[in-house]
Amino acid sequence: MLIHSAAQLLTLAGGPQRGHDLGKLGALENGAVLVRDEKIIAIGPSGELRAAYPNEPTLDASDCVVMPGFVDPHTHLIWGGDRAAEFELRLEGTHYLDILASGGGILSTVQCTRTASIEALIAQTRPRLLRMFAHGTTTAEAKTGYGLQTATELRLLKALLALDDEGPVDIAVTFMGAHAIAPEYKGNPQGYTNLIIETMLPIIQQWWQTHAPGLPLPFVDAFCERKAFDLAQSRQILTKAAGLGFPLKIHADEFDNLGGASLAVELGAASADHLVKTSDADIAALGKSDTVAVALPCTPFGLAEHEYTPAKRIIAAGGILAIATDCNPGTAWCESVQFAIALACRYMGLTPAQAIAAATINAAHAIRRADTIGSIEPGKQADLLVLSVPDYRHLGYRFGTNLVKQVIKRGQVYSVDAGYYRTA
Ligand code: NIG
Ligand code: FE
Repeated sequence: MLIHSAAQLLTLAGGPQRGHDLGKLGALENGAVLVRDEKIIAIGPSGELRAAYPNEPTLDASDCVVMPGFVDPHTHLIWGGDRAAEFELRLEGTHYLDILASGGGILSTVQCTRTASIEALIAQTRPRLLRMFAHGTTTAEAKTGYGLQTATELRLLKALLALDDEGPVDIAVTFMGAHAIAPEYKGNPQGYTNLIIETMLPIIQQWWQTHAPGLPLPFVDAFCERKAFDLAQSRQILTKAAGLGFPLKIHADEFDNLGGASLAVELGAASADHLVKTSDADIAALGKSDTVAVALPCTPFGLAEHEYTPAKRIIAAGGILAIATDCNPGTAWCESVQFAIALACRYMGLTPAQAIAAATINAAHAIRRADTIGSIEPGKQADLLVLSVPDYRHLGYRFGTNLVKQVIKRGQVYSVDAGYYRTA
């Protein structure tokens, strides 16, 4: 299939885009992409490719932007129930971490998740995944972490593998048994930390090798935060995970600066995420590392807070910046990377071009899949978007409606912008 006549074809070729290199779109006017089976074969001016491949089926992208599918590198996609009542409590002034400390918050989702069957969890998660897809996400990272006990965490892993298998969205799985202190260990975070280290991680490593043979081990992530896991406990968990061969991620500095980002750098983690209260020393460490800094602007927005990830300081330090939705039932139930881009432009000071690179090629690096996705380059997976706008800057500028017209996933075309029908 030849996708041709794109007003702007954004390749995002190369990368990761570090520091001030962020925002190199590799844009081609009147561009074309040749896709065969699941792969990108060639990129070039429309005239040239149409002459070279005259018998190819075509997709006319006139007046549209064509770009790589969004990669959402941080979501808590799978959960039971919702927290609408807690949203109202927070609006009335109760702090997120105080709700958690009194057994609500993440722990109320844990209760709903533990009692849900795998079928129910898949049935509740699938529509979220399809909304993400309709908004242009072709690959998403997804964390467990609403089980906080071995059996439920394994059920969540199994459900995520099933959803990945089902498609169309590819899922990069993360084990996050260290998302909160399990209710059984209230007041004893070290006890729960020991359970993760001594029991959960070895069981999950074994389980994965039998249930997902051939797939690389999932990421292991930990919530390094006051009232969750302190720096020493986060270090214990992530060090043990690394020793078992798991790649790493961390939640750091969402509310307090505990030094989690420097720990991530020290341990060679794929990413450090949130990074709102990050210190200058931590930013300097990130800037010199290959650990991607993942900003989650939907989270302060969702919590109605006013402080966002200091993206400009991370860029100035030479860091690799990515953005994600953090889709979760507590702080940010948002399935749209387009909305995260709109927030990143306003509150993190990114240009649309920078935000687009952060949500594609750099996001692919944050889940270590940049060899196959995140840019439009020959040999990569054919995951592309056709946007119903003639200029990429409409991303960021516009918000609250979906600008995706078609999603091309592994070479298959899915129409999103089906228009407006009146039933007879
Ligand atoms: O990334 N902070 C930890 N995890 C999520 C929130 C999860 C929840 O509240 O259910 C986050 O913001
Ligand atoms: Fe998160």
